[in-house]
Amino acid sequence: MASKMRLVRVLLLAVTSTWSFCFLRAQELALRLDDPAIEQRVSDLLGQMTLEEKIGQIVHFTADSSNEPGTMHPDYREQIAKGQVGSFENVTGAAETNALQKLAVEKSRLHIPLLFALDVIHGYRTVFPVPLAMAATWDPVLVERASRIAAKEATREGIRWTFSPMVDIARDARWGRMVEGAGEDPYLGSAMAVAYVRGYQGARLDDPQSMLACMKHFVGYGAAEAGRDYNAAEISERTLRQIYLPPFHAALEAGVGSVMSAFNTLNGVPATSNWFTLTHILREEWGFQGAVISDYGSTGETIAHGIAVDGQTAARKAILAGLDIDLESNLYSHYLPELVRSGAVPEVVVDQAARRMLRIKFALGLFDHPYAPEPATGGNPQLDPADVEFARTVAERSFVLLKNGESGGKATLPLGSEVRTIALIGPLADSAADMLGPWRARGTAADVVTLRTALTSRMQQAGRQVLYAKGTEIVSDGDSGFAEAVAAAKQADVVLMALGEDSFWMSAEAASRAHLGLPGNQQQLLEAVAATGKPVVLIVFSGRPLTVTWAASHVPAILQAWFPGVQAGPALVRTLFGDVSPSGKLTVSMPHSVGQEPLYYDALNTGRPADGIDLSRPPSNHDEKYHSRYVDEPNAALFPFGYGLSYTKFIYSPLELSTSQLSASGLNQKTAQALHVSTTVRNTGSRAGDEIVELYLRLRGTSVALPVRQLEGFRRVALAPGESKRVEFTVGRDELAFWNIDMQDFVEPASATVWIGPSSAEGKSADFVIAK
Ligand code: BGC
Repeated sequence: MASKMRLVRVLLLAVTSTWSFCFLRAQELALRLDDPAIEQRVSDLLGQMTLEEKIGQIVHFTADSSNEPGTMHPDYREQIAKGQVGSFENVTGAAETNALQKLAVEKSRLHIPLLFALDVIHGYRTVFPVPLAMAATWDPVLVERASRIAAKEATREGIRWTFSPMVDIARDARWGRMVEGAGEDPYLGSAMAVAYVRGYQGARLDDPQSMLACMKHFVGYGAAEAGRDYNAAEISERTLRQIYLPPFHAALEAGVGSVMSAFNTLNGVPATSNWFTLTHILREEWGFQGAVISDYGSTGETIAHGIAVDGQTAARKAILAGLDIDLESNLYSHYLPELVRSGAVPEVVVDQAARRMLRIKFALGLFDHPYAPEPATGGNPQLDPADVEFARTVAERSFVLLKNGESGGKATLPLGSEVRTIALIGPLADSAADMLGPWRARGTAADVVTLRTALTSRMQQAGRQVLYAKGTEIVSDGDSGFAEAVAAAKQADVVLMALGEDSFWMSAEAASRAHLGLPGNQQQLLEAVAATGKPVVLIVFSGRPLTVTWAASHVPAILQAWFPGVQAGPALVRTLFGDVSPSGKLTVSMPHSVGQEPLYYDALNTGRPADGIDLSRPPSNHDEKYHSRYVDEPNAALFPFGYGLSYTKFIYSPLELSTSQLSASGLNQKTAQALHVSTTVRNTGSRAGDEIVELYLRLRGTSVALPVRQLEGFRRVALAPGESKRVEFTVGRDELAFWNIDMQDFVEPASATVWIGPSSAEGKSADFVIAK
């Protein structure tokens, strides 16, 4: 299943009628962290270095207030000149990075260049939709291109290391960092992880426009108990290997050059000092050659976790567990010299960590080209119009149409020419900064076109009008704006309500929420406006699923817009008016209520499943009581994983299987054929549209219980009205192996069901057998 140590298989699919598979291995990439010529140069250099200089390479600092000249802590400059800092983050601008680089290259004894890092998460200057939205495109090719654009922009200013992608599987919407990843599924998460790495690192790492990627947070960070950020994670080894590790392994096979350890404890051991994950899995099992960096201050935080009582012990435990670089705790620089001299840490351990950093610097070509190209005019370069247009396309493909009921006898969306007056209401309708989402690098609100701006311009060109009323703030308990909003709604043909979260305080790091409804009094505003009887389109801006349960039964249309980036407004307007059809699908299950969390589609069945029981009402005396159910909420998601509507309709033909029987031993020995399963998808509507076709599997009769369904393939298929396309998937060892009772990644004899369909809750199915 999705858990196995598979070759990374990325679907290079797009909206064209053809698709291709791209099988990638690290060896096929030009990124070579095992290049003998580089190893020789590293060895020569290490041979000349003092202990302090070697330790310097594994010390990483941050410069706060990054953009302004002269804000650096004065010591940093001194330390750089002495070769006591290896890498630096939060310095941006070519002039700034070059000034520090000059110190390292010209003043330090061995002229070793610095490596500049930044959290370039979903764009640098051209801000794309947040990663959760990018995942909702189910389009790795698009994500790769967006990451390449980010690399092009960041490297122009000397940033050659990004702390991205975040590949943490997130199954609890209370966790605010869900926004930074690809959602709940390891298969999709792996495809996205690969796409980011390919985009950032490019075909060659020493290309001046390539940036070292950093997969994070290793590992289990997304499983923080109760969704509270930084909280402990308890994950069995099977679940770790089956669910949480695969995207990391996929990124590694795509050649990722660095890893960031997580803040949390994993099964009681802080991830930053966790030998099992940092050394046993990463190095011994996976053969990782790159460098491991701590999260911000997390080496020092192992004291708070309680596995060390002082900085010296924290530093010793971390480096012996396999943590190469200390990010900002400043413990390695303070304590490693003495720890090595006293023999508590063998010098070879420091050598190895420094070697990994130097290897990366050579692979990036930094020794030969340490400086960023100075901008001709200085300042913040303009956005490239082609990149901006591409950002709009990404946003359009990330929107998920959750509901599109009828109003006035026809589908509410797209809006037609009969709509003369639109009321645009809500605190997110004109909030440029929020459109950028969290982690906006050097994106600025000035580059954003909001929904209000784009809608007004479109309507004015057509001689129609927009009545705008903010109504309320994102968080407020005052209703003084309600009357104006209701009055605008009453005069309109259609109401667009732009509601949702604050992109920084509610949807990001340290932004866990115990309530998942619309914040503040936005729900009351929505109800007041809906009470006018005018058709309402709810547009939800958020970095996680919100419980839009009331809206799902009271307003005719809901569009999940996430935080769409610089082109939020134009992308939304083109979608609302039907220039393009929505095609995104959820990569996280949307709950009815927060009490269902953690909620994910690929759950294990219980012994007492509530199949066939009406869960839409509380149990009565006539019902069998002892089922795995809530007495006050359905078990299923409000909108399931993989779900999303279009303006057109797609139908799937019955599945065709190339065989009804496979051989487990043949698959394990790689001598047997795989199964080919296909369907024909037809666009039966009158509009063009893209359909994301999803393949799921279930195995029964196995040595351990496996999920009720597991995603094992997907395709984005573009279909003109009336057009049909045959979509074929291969189901072989990679799709069928799982971590069995003996903790081996094997195919076992089983009864299998395969589904191909539009979501995790639908699809055409067929059975087959995996014999011995
Ligand atoms: C975050 C990391 C990020 C780092 C940068 C931390 O707070 O957890 O994801 O890369 O800051 O220093």
